[in-house]
Amino acid sequence: MSKLAPSILSSDFSRLAQQVSLIEEGGADYVHMDVMDGAFVPNITFGGPVVKSMAGKTSLPFDVHLMIEHPELRLKDFVTPQTEFICVHQEACTHLHRVVQQIKDLGVKAGVALNPATSLSVLEYVLDDLDMVLIMSVNPGFGGQKFIPGAVDKIRRLSYIREQEKLNFVIEVDGGVTLSNAAMLKDAGCDILVAGSAVFGAEDIPARVREFKAIIGD
Ligand code: DX5
Ligand code: ZN
Repeated sequence: MSKLAPSILSSDFSRLAQQVSLIEEGGADYVHMDVMDGAFVPNITFGGPVVKSMAGKTSLPFDVHLMIEHPELRLKDFVTPQTEFICVHQEACTHLHRVVQQIKDLGVKAGVALNPATSLSVLEYVLDDLDMVLIMSVNPGFGGQKFIPGAVDKIRRLSYIREQEKLNFVIEVDGGVTLSNAAMLKDAGCDILVAGSAVFGAEDIPARVREFKAIIGD
């Protein structure tokens, strides 16, 4: 069984709480929150105040994806009673091991995201400390981009390493996830699928979440 984390990046920000209630109604497992700083990625989205404002507005856990430089300076801004994961980019962390420990010290599960061009090998000495590895299947910064097929092999290899080394981190995929590639991603070893435009671009958002869950849910 894989889980679904709709990304609010593609939602209508003017009625965020209502949009999140629609994914909850459909049976989503997490709210994926894309924090962008206009420096690590070209786009700017939202920061800690918006994440904190959503606490108590839904019962879903938060999956916070930080696409920001120097995430170590701002980790606590994203901690709420509902924050389950905080994920930082390997490419944004000079001292990755320390940042991972800082996330855990805040009582939150630690994830590391890898851009499409970044090798799995950069995680070799930190892998057994991680709760999540996020494989980017687009270059981060925007919703609605086309899935990069090379991500599938990367997910399979990561899943193999996890099995060989008897590790417990979850594998998440983010970018260009649709109803058409969801089954393949689940089979490749993904535990959590992030989908932005494929969920919030739908006419009937709860129905779209149910369609995803019917494919990946068991
Ligand atoms: C991209 C973000 C994604 C984005 C995915 O930088 O990290 O979470 O919302 O959007 P879709 O599903 O539309 O590719
Ligand atoms: Zn994301």
